[in-house]
Amino acid sequence: MPADPRAGAVVLAAGQGSRFHSARAKVLHEIAGRSMLRWVLEALRPLGLDRVVVVVGHQADAVVAETQAADLPGLTTVLQPEQNGTGHAVRQAVDAGALDDIDTVLVLPGDVPLLTPEPLRRLLAEHGARPATLLTARVADPAGYGRVLRDDSGEVARIVEERDATEVERRVDEVGTSIYAFDRAPLAAELARLSTDNAQSEEYLTDVIGPLSAGAVVAPAELVAGVNDRAQLAAAAAVLRGRILDRLMRAGVTVIDPCATYVDAEAVVEADAVLRPGTSLEGRCLIGPRTDVGPDSRLVGATVEADATVTYSVLIEASVGPGATVGPYTYLRPGTRLERGAKAGAFVEVKQSVIGEGSKVPHLSYIGDATVGKDANIGAATVTVNYDGQHKHQTVIGDGAFIGSDTMLVAPVEIGDGAYTGAGSVITKDVPGGALAVERNEQRTIADYAARKRNAT
Ligand code: UD1
Ligand code: CA
Repeated sequence: MPADPRAGAVVLAAGQGSRFHSARAKVLHEIAGRSMLRWVLEALRPLGLDRVVVVVGHQADAVVAETQAADLPGLTTVLQPEQNGTGHAVRQAVDAGALDDIDTVLVLPGDVPLLTPEPLRRLLAEHGARPATLLTARVADPAGYGRVLRDDSGEVARIVEERDATEVERRVDEVGTSIYAFDRAPLAAELARLSTDNAQSEEYLTDVIGPLSAGAVVAPAELVAGVNDRAQLAAAAAVLRGRILDRLMRAGVTVIDPCATYVDAEAVVEADAVLRPGTSLEGRCLIGPRTDVGPDSRLVGATVEADATVTYSVLIEASVGPGATVGPYTYLRPGTRLERGAKAGAFVEVKQSVIGEGSKVPHLSYIGDATVGKDANIGAATVTVNYDGQHKHQTVIGDGAFIGSDTMLVAPVEIGDGAYTGAGSVITKDVPGGALAVERNEQRTIADYAARKRNAT
């Protein structure tokens, strides 16, 4: 439901973010698996605006791609070829005609990842009496922000940027958040009058506030903090992670230590899952009910189904079936699927393979490009020798097969249902179902060897 039939937003995302000292545009830096820009766009989503214009400039292609990935209705981008300030940035959107059919224009910076829809709803609700309404905040440390200067009657007189402020003005603890609501026509008229006569020689958006005699809404500081450097990025990340974990805990997930648990925004974790310290769920992880994950495990785009456990392990785009067990010290790489009740144990690496229901790879093995049937046992230190230096080859292991410890399965090779291989064998030929294949020399035992060796010296 649209908040207003003709309300739109301009998100300023053209700047480089020089205080980040990064080759990457500031708004693309990520928190909990989402770019800062994406966090801002997600705060806008529930408002149902008719238009969302993202002003791009620095690394425009990448920022456009990130914008489009948000897939918001009414989304468009406008290029600000040179970054001549926040006012100049909004002017690009106006001059491009991107707001022509919009009456109320929200303006937001791309570096306020903590923003939620609430302050925006309030800003829109209270906007109307005047052509501009400014979202402000009272902060403990106003350093870096524009200060809001009020007149004797308490009305906003203007905003002064820190670098242009006097000593006395800098002591003001009410700051501009760079978030505003404007009536489009008066905004456009004031933007056309902006000068660059200031410390940064830029067109400041803050300079339209005085002439428009703006109203103000004060927002909680923790929702509107700007992120200008990586220390502020880390501080914002801690807050966002806290919110994600809070949501999960209130929905029935046990988080042993929220300070040491890292869950990205897109993760889904079901009730009665336990997340142990040192667990990172990156990207879109799906963690089922009654699972036990961690400690010290990194899961990237992984699925862990009901009742499964993952301990001290790394899972990249792998899928663990119900009741399966992984770890400790296990590496499951992309394309791995452990079926129900399967096991990948200590110091086991699995890549692009299916381990069938109830099958076990308990110790020290490499399984790559393999299909393992049901209830098979893969002895310790078994290796699928899948790579001949040029191509990868498949290994197929049948239901109930018993692979002896330290078997080398030189692929392509197939071990039939219920077949055995002898420990230490190098298997280069298919083994039919029910057969035993042993490939190794007869054992020689030399009696009293040790004593004879001693006497010889
Ligand atoms: C700005 C405000 C300041 C406010 C603070 C709140 C101005 C002049 N200053 O300062 O009053 O307290 O935000 O966090 O508005 N951008 C562009 N094009 C440009 C310049 C910037 O798109 O030419 C974008 C940036 O990518 C960023 C946003 O605008 O997302 C804000 O720019 P930034 O340089 O971070 O402004 P601040 O110095 O934080
Ligand atoms: Ca900023």
